[in-house]
Amino acid sequence: MDVITKVKEMQTRVLSIKDRKESIGFVPTMGALHEGHVSLIRSARNENDELIVSIYLNPTQFDNKDDFDNYPHQLDKDIEIVERENADVVFAPDTEEIYPEGFCTYVTQGKLIDSLCGRLRPGHFNGVTTIVTKLFNIIRPDRAYFGQKDFQQSIVIKKLVADLNMNIDIKVLPTVRDEDGLALSSRNKRLNPEERHSALCIYGSLLKAKSMFASNIKDSKEIIEEMTSIIKKAKHTRIDYISIVNAHTLEDVSSINGKAVAAVAVWIGNTRLIDNLILE
Ligand code: PAJ
Repeated sequence: MDVITKVKEMQTRVLSIKDRKESIGFVPTMGALHEGHVSLIRSARNENDELIVSIYLNPTQFDNKDDFDNYPHQLDKDIEIVERENADVVFAPDTEEIYPEGFCTYVTQGKLIDSLCGRLRPGHFNGVTTIVTKLFNIIRPDRAYFGQKDFQQSIVIKKLVADLNMNIDIKVLPTVRDEDGLALSSRNKRLNPEERHSALCIYGSLLKAKSMFASNIKDSKEIIEEMTSIIKKAKHTRIDYISIVNAHTLEDVSSINGKAVAAVAVWIGNTRLIDNLILE
């Protein structure tokens, strides 16, 4: 496996893969890899001739400086994890490569970023769509892999490739959880044991939504009230949002008809976690 840090070198490598007419699977990450990332890497390994994983902590998608400064770093360990999964290339550029002096072009999206995390983290998704566009242009993948854990991100990326005519198949894979249900996240590393315990309220609230929906309760307000009370009961929690949205438009729905998503963002101490479940 090769570790490439320069854009030009990465592009040359991609050209040689394309010359051989081999397919490219791509998994973009910000590092601090866990089994959630590994599940994407394994699928990409199985479905493509060449597998490229990027590790780049993208500053433009952080709306909170503390979050960026405290994001876990473990590049050497991450490279070992990716190598174990038989990737062909890790692309790990530094910020001078990605945003050289004078960089001033951004990809922005409308509508889909007016709700959920987009509403509460101004600028976040413009950072995501910009970096993902750049990575797609450099790596030119046939297939790119994303997690349902970041549901809004997966919808935003699907719309990005459709609207900008990028010929890339976007695969969205299920959320990988710890045994007790907590969705794996690089940010979980920041939780102390008491906060780790409190964080279980997130999945607990989503399971409650699922069971209410299964017993034919379709009123979002009623479901959200129950979810809110579960989260408020846990220690160290502060709710950013609890929403039930249409799974395609991401607009709030008052009553669940068709595919919807219950989505939650909660601060546990100083760590903001998100999770969701599809209701259909
Ligand atoms: P990051 O948070 O590192 O996540 C990389 C990919 O792993 C995303 O597609 C995310 O949805 C997926 N993922 C994270 N936790 C997961 C879990 N528990 N189960 C399944 N998949 C999971 O998302 C980003 O990085 C960035 O925004 C990025 C797309 C790389 C652009 O900078």
